[in-house]
Amino acid sequence: MPHPQIVASVLGADYSRLGGEVLDLVAAGVDRIQWDVMDGHFVPNLTFGADVIAACRSYTEVPFEAHLMVADPDAVLSDFVEAGCETIIVHVETCPHLHRTLSRIRELGARAGVAVNPASSLEFVPYVLEQLDHLLIMTVNPGFGGQDYIGAMEAKVSQARGLVRDSGRAIRIEVDGGISVDTAAAARTSGAELLVAGSALLTHPAGKRAAVEDLQRVLA
Ligand code: DX5
Repeated sequence: MPHPQIVASVLGADYSRLGGEVLDLVAAGVDRIQWDVMDGHFVPNLTFGADVIAACRSYTEVPFEAHLMVADPDAVLSDFVEAGCETIIVHVETCPHLHRTLSRIRELGARAGVAVNPASSLEFVPYVLEQLDHLLIMTVNPGFGGQDYIGAMEAKVSQARGLVRDSGRAIRIEVDGGISVDTAAAARTSGAELLVAGSALLTHPAGKRAAVEDLQRVLA
């Protein structure tokens, strides 16, 4: 399995200096930035749109991924690709025509990802293996940062790892929610290669660099 990557969620960042926060996270050593896009419908919270992401694109070269927690992702796919996101992650729960949505993301020139809520299954995966680049297993219920990690999702991560391995395809498996020095190793062992962390990076008393080093240490 590839070396684990740390993905910073900016959900809990200081929005009055978002570009600077992105710079600080990259300088601290994160591998990717995840933008938690929430519309107040699919999830209770409301965050940022494509224009905010576009405004931060020039601060760094690291990959941006858009985690679309929105009721109608098909309506906004091109906006987030144009904003500079190289991976677009839609929720299986919001895509009645998932095969077509993933194909559309690829047509737009981005990598196609699917996120799965804790109570949702992976039964769709075998039918979209050829359209899929990225599989995000939610380890919290989406909508908020700072929630407790749901350890029961490790079985789903392992199931996903088995499906991907048997497919022979280079599909990345990511986990998101409650990732910290206490949970990262188990998530990694279950089969995740990308680990999204928000509050663990943004609220560490010794700062973002120390937070990244702590996570890298438990993932070594
Ligand atoms: C939930 C969000 C969070 C966020 C990370 O919808 O997707 O999982 O990215 O939050 P923490 O790391 O604070 O749990």
